[in-house]
Amino acid sequence: MNDQLLFRQPNSGDAKGMRVLARESQVLSVNSTYFYALMARHFQATCMVAEGGEGAICGYVVGYCPPEQPDTLFVWQVGVAKSCQGAGLGKRLLIALLQQKQPDFLEATIAPGNQASINLFSSVARHFGVSNTFSEEPFFSGEDLGVEQEVEHLMRIGPFSSQGYNSN
Ligand SMILES: CC(C)(COP(=O)(O)OP(=O)(O)OC[C@H]1O[C@@H](n2cnc3c(N)ncnc32)[C@H](O)[C@@H]1OP(=O)(O)O)[C@@H](O)C(=O)NCCC(=O)NCCS
Repeated sequence: MNDQLLFRQPNSGDAKGMRVLARESQVLSVNSTYFYALMARHFQATCMVAEGGEGAICGYVVGYCPPEQPDTLFVWQVGVAKSCQGAGLGKRLLIALLQQKQPDFLEATIAPGNQASINLFSSVARHFGVSNTFSEEPFFSGEDLGVEQEVEHLMRIGPFSSQGYNSN
């Protein structure tokens, strides 16, 4: 199935599909449809969707470049439909987005218990042959997020080089 997917930048019409995947994951924070539409409109160049047959969205990445770190792509969410998980789609989405945007660094916050996410980002770092670090101090504390057990640590990957992008 993965071979027939179309990887492309999202548009506001994809917002509902992205939100459905977030909700179905039972792991991701589910934001409003308006929020996904806004990201698809204003941050299109740092987001990516995978479109399957009949236009259904089966995976997405939402990210942006923090204003004070324009060399860094910060990924807020990666979501893959349950039926497509474990087949390399999350990794392919991130690689496609990195090759499109070509940032120097990739960052994401990850809950220490989310092994799938840790492995996903580590695998992307290995793909490009760059290092990744996982902060010891929380990036957001449970108190920040209003849920005591939801600590998020920062994974920082890179530096990437244009040579690395061209050879991968
Ligand atoms: C995390 C997620 C996006 C991964 O997408 P995916 O398409 O299933 O992952 P891939 O098949 O591309 O696998 C990428 C790597 O992660 C590993 N991985 C994927 N799912 C895993 C799991 N459940 N447990 C452990 N490792 C896992 C794979 O083994 C692979 O590693 P490798 O390249 O060293 O073999 C997907 O599981 C998901 O949508 N989960 C719910 C939402 C979430 O947690 N998002 C991440 C936080 S933003």
